[in-house]
Amino acid sequence: MKLKGKVAIVTGSTSGMGRATAELFAREGAKVVVTGRNEARAKEVVDKIKAEGNEAIYVTADMLKMDDVKKIFDVTMETYGTVDILFNNAGMLSITPLQEISLEEWENTFRVNVTAPMYLTQLCAPVMKEKGKGVIINTGSVAGAHAHHGPAAYCSSKHAIGGLTKSMAYELGPEIRANAILPGAIMTAMVDSVGGEAAVAHLKEDSPLKRVGYPDDIANVALFLATDESSFINGQLIRVDGGIDI
Ligand SMILES: NC(=O)c1ccc[n+]([C@@H]2O[C@H](COP(=O)([O-])OP(=O)(O)OC[C@H]3O[C@@H](n4cnc5c(N)ncnc54)[C@H](OP(=O)(O)O)[C@@H]3O)[C@@H](O)[C@H]2O)c1
Repeated sequence: MKLKGKVAIVTGSTSGMGRATAELFAREGAKVVVTGRNEARAKEVVDKIKAEGNEAIYVTADMLKMDDVKKIFDVTMETYGTVDILFNNAGMLSITPLQEISLEEWENTFRVNVTAPMYLTQLCAPVMKEKGKGVIINTGSVAGAHAHHGPAAYCSSKHAIGGLTKSMAYELGPEIRANAILPGAIMTAMVDSVGGEAAVAHLKEDSPLKRVGYPDDIANVALFLATDESSFINGQLIRVDGGIDI
């Protein structure tokens, strides 16, 4: 087992790629902290992990609220006494064009996609530094590498998490490595909310692999980044997108 004895926080793990990663990390021996706003789905994920004979707890938290973000750290420390891996994966999609977006929607998008990962990292990093080792993985997006018409706040926030990842790598080493995964079109509730596979059909057609991605495509890369198999990879923004826009 690749993560035996490790404690991993996976934010936004009630669904999609976070859920797939939480389940994979648990199968690899990690004690996993599942988070999200939806308690029923959080419980379902933890029940499944436990039914497979593995270990997890859930913490309900809204990443718009920094008290909730702190609660994730506090409950993790109270329950497991440490943290080794932080996967800042929870994300908020905004598709409102620049000229129409309210300040509230803009700020909420940055709060969930950038501020919450920064704050949770601030809380977890001293524990990792003290024990001499830790891994942070952030979720960016291909929208953090290119702009398209429409999602100005999402695109900007995902560019920002790229910069934050590089700052983390500089400031938190040598004990902590920080990298970001930039998913392409991955079939999750988020893609369903904007029209599902039909809405991303053009991306599929443009892709050299002629397919969309699935949550396990991301979970497998997160596992690689969480282990020493990637021990010399740091500060990188790793696209997992089937090769679109190359
Ligand atoms: N799917 C794609 O094609 C794609 C592409 C590029 C990047 N991404 C990024 O990948 C990450 C995961 O998204 P996904 O595709 O797996 O979507 P998803 O299935 O909709 O999952 C999103 C997760 O984030 C949580 N979340 C959302 N807003 C939250 C909030 N305010 N507070 C707490 N948790 C919140 C959700 O939990 P609750 O609903 O329980 O709160 C859920 O667990 C996001 O950062 C997203 O931006 C996705």
